Amino acid sequence: MTCSSFGKCGSCVLWEMPYDEQLKMKSEKLKEMFSEFDMPEIEVVHGSDEHFRARAEFRVWHEGDKSYYAMRKRKEDGRGVIPIEECKIVDKAIYDIMTPLLKEIEKNDNLRFKLYEIDFLSNSKGELIITLIYHKKVDESIAEDIKKLKEKFKNADFIVRKKGRKYVFDKNYLIEELNINSKTYKYKIIENTFSQPNRQMNQKMIEWAMRNSEDLKGDLVELYCGNGNFTIPLSERFNKVIATEISKESIEAATYNAEINARDNITFLAMSAAEFSKLYKDRSPLITKYDLKNILIDPPRAGLDDKSREFVNEFDNIIYISCNPETLQRDLKTLAKGREIKAFAFFDQFPYTNHAECGVILKKN
Ligand SMILES: C[S@@+](CC[C@H](N)C(=O)[O-])C[C@H]1O[C@@H](n2cnc3c(N)ncnc32)[C@H](O)[C@@H]1O
Repeated sequence: MTCSSFGKCGSCVLWEMPYDEQLKMKSEKLKEMFSEFDMPEIEVVHGSDEHFRARAEFRVWHEGDKSYYAMRKRKEDGRGVIPIEECKIVDKAIYDIMTPLLKEIEKNDNLRFKLYEIDFLSNSKGELIITLIYHKKVDESIAEDIKKLKEKFKNADFIVRKKGRKYVFDKNYLIEELNINSKTYKYKIIENTFSQPNRQMNQKMIEWAMRNSEDLKGDLVELYCGNGNFTIPLSERFNKVIATEISKESIEAATYNAEINARDNITFLAMSAAEFSKLYKDRSPLITKYDLKNILIDPPRAGLDDKSREFVNEFDNIIYISCNPETLQRDLKTLAKGREIKAFAFFDQFPYTNHAECGVILKKN
């Protein structure tokens, strides 16, 4: 891939490295990092290195009567943001709308004045939620201006935000369709809640988790379930599933997603991982009715807190999806004791960055 922002934009730090070399470099780094464990071969899973981001956030740079998208500068160029002409890593639907959208905004003082950031969320059908974030007082009078944008960009819904205020024109969610093992799953994805950023890699991660849980029997417990991304397809492999997550909005979406995919063996609960772990410690009937053999965890970058790690360590079989190799390494020091690492995958969710997403299957010896 080439991009006119390469070498200026602080996002694609590996812009000079051919893609196959990036994959090799990142997997070698992981191999080295996890060398203290009895490791299987690292499975390298990648997708397209272009137009892979289904959501993206850009600052807006105003200069005279022109406006530009802006990204943070490269570390070596100091602090702050720089204007960019294009971003090739975003989904094609986002890429195609970026310039014409900004041209329309440039023509309208009310839309342009103190516009600070534009966020994009897209689905596989090319539908978009576009969030305009302002550093000024915004009121409902902006509705007329947004209506004009909506007439021009029929595939987009808009959200206008200002600290503490939010106006939605007309909806704040998309219905995403994922193809997993040749079956279509539908997901409601709500703006400003977590959703997997790379659709193609997400499908591959879910397929990997399904393939590696084929021989697991009984029930599944899940922490950090988000909108039910893994939960819904994986629930077909298990008797009963209990899945938890701290965001109430994500749990609302997950409950809806179970319904539209006709899954009736899942219970979703909005609570933190630590709170759920405490239920287990207190022998709550909410949790003791599940057989605690299999657990799936997909925590944020901080990995597992002490209480949650202790809880996860009660399970025979662990599917760990991690977006931070450092906290994964720390957590495996506990979880790999008495368990075999049956599979280890590196999912390249973010080409041209040093980021590495990993999947680990641990089974009791
Ligand atoms: C990496 S995302 C994974 C979400 C989901 N598994 C997916 O694939 O879309 C991590 C999720 O953990 C949730 N989360 C963050 N801190 C949490 C906590 N302390 N307890 C439970 N969930 C938490 C976030 O809201 C987010 O949805």
